[in-house]
Formats: sequence, C-alpha cells, structure tokens
Amino acid sequence: MKEKLIKQAVQVLSNNFQKEGFTIPCKGLYPFQWKWDSGFIAIGLSYFNISNAKKEIETLLNAQWENGFIPHIVFHNESDTYFPGPDFHQSNLHFLSSKEYKSTGMTQPPVTGFVLQEMLRIASDKEGMLQFIETQIDKVYRNHQYFYKNRDIYNEGLVYIYHNWESGTDNSPIWDDIWETMNPPEYDFERRDTTHVDASQRPSKREYDYYLHIIEIAKEHNYDDTKIAELSPFLVQDPLFNAMLIKSNSALIGLYTKLGENEEKISQLKKWQEKSIKAFNEKLYNENLGAYVHYDLRNGKQIEFVSSSSFSPLFSGIPDEKKAKEIVNTMLTKFGGEDKYLCASFDPTSSRFNPKKYWRGPVWINLNWMLYYGLKDYGFIDVAQRVKEDSIELIKNDGFYEYFDSRKSNNGGYGGSDFSWSAALIIDLLHI
Ligand code: GLC
Repeated sequence: MKEKLIKQAVQVLSNNFQKEGFTIPCKGLYPFQWKWDSGFIAIGLSYFNISNAKKEIETLLNAQWENGFIPHIVFHNESDTYFPGPDFHQSNLHFLSSKEYKSTGMTQPPVTGFVLQEMLRIASDKEGMLQFIETQIDKVYRNHQYFYKNRDIYNEGLVYIYHNWESGTDNSPIWDDIWETMNPPEYDFERRDTTHVDASQRPSKREYDYYLHIIEIAKEHNYDDTKIAELSPFLVQDPLFNAMLIKSNSALIGLYTKLGENEEKISQLKKWQEKSIKAFNEKLYNENLGAYVHYDLRNGKQIEFVSSSSFSPLFSGIPDEKKAKEIVNTMLTKFGGEDKYLCASFDPTSSRFNPKKYWRGPVWINLNWMLYYGLKDYGFIDVAQRVKEDSIELIKNDGFYEYFDSRKSNNGGYGGSDFSWSAALIIDLLHI
C-alpha cells in the first residue's frame, strides 16, 4: 500500500511540474506558482528529485521584490483558467516589485525558511544541499527583514496580513465579522474557479467582492505598506502566519549556524524570535477557549473562534507545556470525536462550520502535516500518530484531493484533484 501511494504521489507531482521550473498546485484551478504551496511541494520533491526541489525554491525566490517581499502568486506563465490574474493584480504598481516577473501584490505564510531546513534533513547529499542553501538563504532572511520592518506596525514582534488570501486559509469563518464591517461594491467579473469545482465547495460571489475590494484599496496606493496599514479594512495578526515566521526564524538560525560566519544575522534573528514568541503568547492566546486565536488589528480585538490555525503554534515551539496541554485538549474535545478525522480546519461545534466548503471545515493535509510534527515534538505521540494515519487514510480512500470532509460517515475529497501539496506531504509522512 505504502509503495503504491508513494508512486502515485510522485506521479501527481511529476505531472504538475512545469517547464519553467515550478509546480502548479493543480491543473485548471491553480495554474501558476503559489508561495506556500511551492515550499510544501519542495519537501516532497526532495525525496525523489532534488534538482526539481531546488528549482522550485529558486523560481519562487527569483520573483522576490527589491524590498525583500515574496509574492503569493508568481505568474511565470500565461493561463486563462484563473481569476484574478496578472492584469488585475498589477504588481508593477509597486516601485520595488520584480521587473522580470508579474505577481500579486500580497504574500502568503513564510514557510521558505523551514522548508530549506526540511530539504537538508531529507537530502542524502548534505554537502550539496548546504551549498544550495547558501545561495538562497539570504533571500529568505531579507524576506523576514521585510516583515519585521513593514508589517509590525507597533514593533511588538507580530506581523499583520492585509488580505485573507495572505493567510492561506482563504474563506475561513474567522473573517466573517470583518466582512460585516465592510460594504464593497458589487463587482462585475467572471470567476473561473466555479468552472473547475462545484460552487458549493467554493466561496460565494459576495465573498469575492470583499476579496477584490481590499486589493483595489491596496492598488489605489500602489501597494504601499504604510498606506495599507493605515487604510485596509482587513488587518489581522494571524497565528498560523506568525507561527510560520517563528518556525522559519528558528530554521534560519540553525542553518546560518551550520554555514558559519553569519553572527550578525543570527543575533538579529534571535532578537526577533524572543520578542515574537513573547508577544504571541501574550496577545494571541485566549484562556476561555484554551486556544490561540487571530487578532483583528483594525478593530482592536481578538477574533474568538478556534480553527486549525489555533494549533499551529505547536509546530513552532511557541506554547509552554501547560498551554500545549490546553490546546491539545481543546483540539481533542472540539475536533477529535471518534466519528471524525483530525483535523478539521474550523471548529466542528460552531454554527459556522461547513464540512464541504474549503476553509470553513474540511481537513487540509498541509495543516495536518504541521500538526503531526508539532504534536510529536511536544510528546503527544498518540495524537500525532492519529493525525498521520487519518491523513494517509483520507488520501488512500478519496485520492489526492485539495481538502476532505472530516466526518467519517460522510467522507469525500473536494476541491481540486491531483493536488500537489497533498501528494508532496504524504510522501514525507509515508517516509517517517
Ligand atoms: C487556495 C488555498 C491557498 C493555496 C492556493 C493554491 O487558494 O486557500 O492556501 O495556496 O489555493 O493551492
């Protein structure tokens, strides 16, 4: 079974690899290079095609802007199967954007630092991989510098996202209260996603109006970070996003130490790290819920809902043992009934839970992958094992889907099929 699944996963990744040197998340629905997808994909590729794994990272980082920013989508290629494309986003509005590559003007969770560390763990030629890392690592460092300089407006160690697409958890119910504060125009546009996937599994038209409106505001100000911080109706400190930054900080410290002669960068990373972890625990923890939550910076309050992002700090060593116990308890109580696969993307006991709709409930393999390692690191071996086995079972039963129904009685795979990160991360889980 194991060998067969790995073989199929390798096939999915090979079919999705493009001649320009990157992997699309899946055919039709997502025809370009996505930032955090590329990171997860490079981990899977490292098991069977190191050269493509390196290319995956290189092509992403080649599109970095002069200010260190790495965009959420890089449009290396032409495609008319996706909206909104390069003509809508107009990254050239920003004076420091890449002159060579069109992209969006927003980013995605900063996974690249820890991805380089994973690639080194997996590679058998450690020397060769370290040499490669040496050619890329400063770009990742500059990306972290960008975040702390431009996205941490109160200099507290927590960075903001200005768009739900930056979170990676695009239509999570977490954002519903923010939409209530906005009243965007009804835009006239032709969606492409619902030509690939049933509309019941995707965001609504009205939700797209909100998404586009935030981008219009950013574009009016040429994607200027200061203006965005001042004016964007969506300004959130996201626990998943910040946990990824913190995990990547640690990875960069480890990698720079291995490479040697980078004292200044290491000491800066350690300063960021200390401040970020402290602020994270103070500001993003909710005692009543027993979980980390999002903080709505625009409206000055915590968003009091539990999602799979609430548990991602385990992956980054953020909670102390007491908090770790509390959040695992919350996970098991709300998300972990025997009739359910771990881990739904949103609280199954909430009225906002929808088991079929994208980030409003289904299980996602990338979150499960992080949770597996996080749980294991904190010694929750049985729960970690369950997350791993559930992930493998879902893919074995349903295929390499984008997301999965968490209800055992009603199981199914939804969204895009032959989805790259589901394939890539299952390869890793099957090897360990
Ligand atoms: C969806 C997901 C996002 C992912 C993208 C490409 O938009 O919400 O996290 O990066 O698809 O797979």
